Amino acid sequence: MKRKVNLYIAISLDGYIADENGQLEWLTGLPNPEKTDYGFADFFATTDTTLLGYKTYAHILELADTYPHPNHANYVFTRSERPAAPHVTFVHGEDIPGFVQQLKAQPGKDIWLIGGGELNAVMLEHDLIDHITLHIMPVALGKGRPLFADKAFEKQFTVEGTKMYQSGAIETMMTITPAE
Ligand SMILES: NC(=O)c1ccc[n+]([C@@H]2O[C@H](COP(=O)([O-])OP(=O)(O)OC[C@H]3O[C@@H](n4cnc5c(N)ncnc54)[C@H](OP(=O)(O)O)[C@@H]3O)[C@@H](O)[C@H]2O)c1
Repeated sequence: MKRKVNLYIAISLDGYIADENGQLEWLTGLPNPEKTDYGFADFFATTDTTLLGYKTYAHILELADTYPHPNHANYVFTRSERPAAPHVTFVHGEDIPGFVQQLKAQPGKDIWLIGGGELNAVMLEHDLIDHITLHIMPVALGKGRPLFADKAFEKQFTVEGTKMYQSGAIETMMTITPAE
């Protein structure tokens, strides 16, 4: 079976993945009474590849010395020339759809679309996201970086299941409803 691209991500109640400065304290600081990892370890084990935009990569490197998934193939999309860095491959140019399609055609485990919102929007626009696991957190930010950055399109989703956590987070698993 062809490997899937799965977006696994957390959002605020009003649809943001980060505050306007790209920070995540609103997310990491939320109470987690049952000390859950929100299914992350199980999800991560189904993947061997990650996709991320440069701003997300840059933010991860603010928090960690090196990119944290050294045993995955990690692709960082950027329009700029970047010096080589440990554990990641920079993908230049505008043909994200072409790159991802050839990746999906290769054998392997599933592909984790990490984000952020700019990359998510390109992926959604081109129907490249097979599955979404969304954690809706009980906090509103008012402003920030949206789940899907500005793009003019409409998509419908089919919800496959939901789960609620003691923190109040709601996990929603969904696929994109094929256009008629
Ligand atoms: N809540 C969560 O679970 C979660 C998950 C992931 C990320 N985040 C947060 O999201 C924030 C970043 O999201 P974001 O939407 O601002 O940015 P992003 O999608 O992570 O990265 C945007 C960058 O990707 C590159 N890019 C975008 N479109 C491209 C294209 N068509 N071709 C080639 N490169 C392209 C560009 O890099 P260059 O500028 O280098 O050209 C662009 O500046 C971070 O603060 C991160 O912490 C949160």
